[in-house]
Amino acid sequence: MKQENKKSVWWKKAVGYQIYPMSFQDSNGDGIGDIRGIINRIDYLANLGIDFIWLNPIYKSPQIDNGYDISDFRNIDPIFGTINDFQELISKLHKKNIKLIIDLVLNHSSDQHYWFQEALNSKDNPYHDYYIWQDGVANTKPNDWVNWSGASEWTYYPQIRQWNYHIFNKRMPDLNWENGKLRKDLLLTAKFWLDMGIDGFRLDAISHLKKMSFNISMKSMRESGQDPWAVHTNVPGLENFLKEIKYAFSGYNIFTVGEASGITPGQASLWTGENGYFNAIFELDQNRHDGYDSKKRPKGNIQAFKKVIFNWETRLNIFGWLSPYLANHDNPRSQQVWGDNRSDSSAKALSLILLSLKGTPFIYFGDELGIGSKNFTSIEQITDPEAQIAYQKTKQEKGNIAKAFTDIANFNRDQGRTPFWWNENKNAGFSDGIPWLGISDGSQGRSAESQIKDPNSILNFYKKMIQVRKSSPSLNQGLFYPLSLEQDSTVNFLRQTNSQLSLVISNLSDTTTQIELPTSIDLDNWLQVIATRPTRLQRKMSLGPYQAAIFMKRVNG
Ligand code: BGC
Repeated sequence: MKQENKKSVWWKKAVGYQIYPMSFQDSNGDGIGDIRGIINRIDYLANLGIDFIWLNPIYKSPQIDNGYDISDFRNIDPIFGTINDFQELISKLHKKNIKLIIDLVLNHSSDQHYWFQEALNSKDNPYHDYYIWQDGVANTKPNDWVNWSGASEWTYYPQIRQWNYHIFNKRMPDLNWENGKLRKDLLLTAKFWLDMGIDGFRLDAISHLKKMSFNISMKSMRESGQDPWAVHTNVPGLENFLKEIKYAFSGYNIFTVGEASGITPGQASLWTGENGYFNAIFELDQNRHDGYDSKKRPKGNIQAFKKVIFNWETRLNIFGWLSPYLANHDNPRSQQVWGDNRSDSSAKALSLILLSLKGTPFIYFGDELGIGSKNFTSIEQITDPEAQIAYQKTKQEKGNIAKAFTDIANFNRDQGRTPFWWNENKNAGFSDGIPWLGISDGSQGRSAESQIKDPNSILNFYKKMIQVRKSSPSLNQGLFYPLSLEQDSTVNFLRQTNSQLSLVISNLSDTTTQIELPTSIDLDNWLQVIATRPTRLQRKMSLGPYQAAIFMKRVNG
């Protein structure tokens, strides 16, 4: 949205909601969610009380990586609809006071993009330098760089006798940010969407735009005790590109959130805030899912989770701005990793924590129903290309098909991408056709339609929690003070402004756990504003499995 007067910071008190478009609502029976499906569900979103949506890529794409491989930066993929549908979505969302941010993918394009097709014609083609190349012969890669799935970052193109560089899939060549014309062309495509009326961007893979010299080997980095991913993460000089991006957006009153892979809290306090490149960042430390083990409950190690969250919240308390989240399209569902993957109380406790953290929180679609991860039983059920590559690699190296499958069964990204549960009908009301990805178990009796009618449902708890956050200055603006620093599964903290104090207590485990509040906390005059079950505040108290509550009181600044 074009800036009119002074820029407002609407995003500071806002609650975001991430929609994975392929899985939200199919309107035409092809088994894939689409823009019309979202338009048909705007009332549901307005009722939930969220302020803005982050929509994963809907650009034209061969869908090698579910839309992150873009073949036309200025068009909508026909599986999702048309530009007209998209414009209708913006205007109908705005009528309900819901803003829209979309993914902006600046690090790479699809190999089917016109620029790349031109680049393959000859080294002299003007678009050749829009991508990253090294001369060479087949079978001798320019260096040993591999990506997170263990695959080489180089692909040979015999027609021009050159190796092409790509951090992600080989069908997603990296764009050459050293080329000023490329930068200009790319940022003009961003303006194209801003001028259409969107309200911001989630900047995909933004810490990878700059690469180190290709002479440096990952092996030597590892051997000298350095992080091997530093060859293409937050490389010095990146800041110039980020400044250019910020400048391109300066005329717009928008919200930008960067996917800050490999960025430390110290760096993030400069990346965001008053003079930062973006309004907020997503930290990726929590996605390590330390201690994650499919046989344990909760599957992730809550102490490790607490350490990560407390560290980020504390470090970005005064300078910088965080976007807390518990799950997204690249991870298993939060119910699976941090909850028990089934109970209402675990889903409610997680929402209570997420919506009490400092920053601009993002709810992952379906978490408000308690959707759990899907349990895949065969490799054929999994579409995630990263998981397929990792599976083939383990199979080849270890010759053990069962092991290869167990590894990816736990980590593949499809687990958290399954369709929404709209009602109790076929395919949980997601589609009349054959869903592109199977519905996860447990939808019966827990669809949105059923939960709307049940005052004690997870959905109604989310609605209430969103309202509690929005109406409480301590929760939407206050400073963050961690409490439970012990090595246990409780996550307790304070949020405070000059006039209000919130105390958040929770037990993210399957067993009853004792907590003891510090004597610095005066126990008088607290009001319980929301809880997974009624909780009496005491110095020493027992919290049952996934019991969580928020108490508030007025204070004099
Ligand atoms: C996105 C992934 C995607 C990758 C490449 C990530 O940051 O979240 O889903 O595969 O970027 O675009």
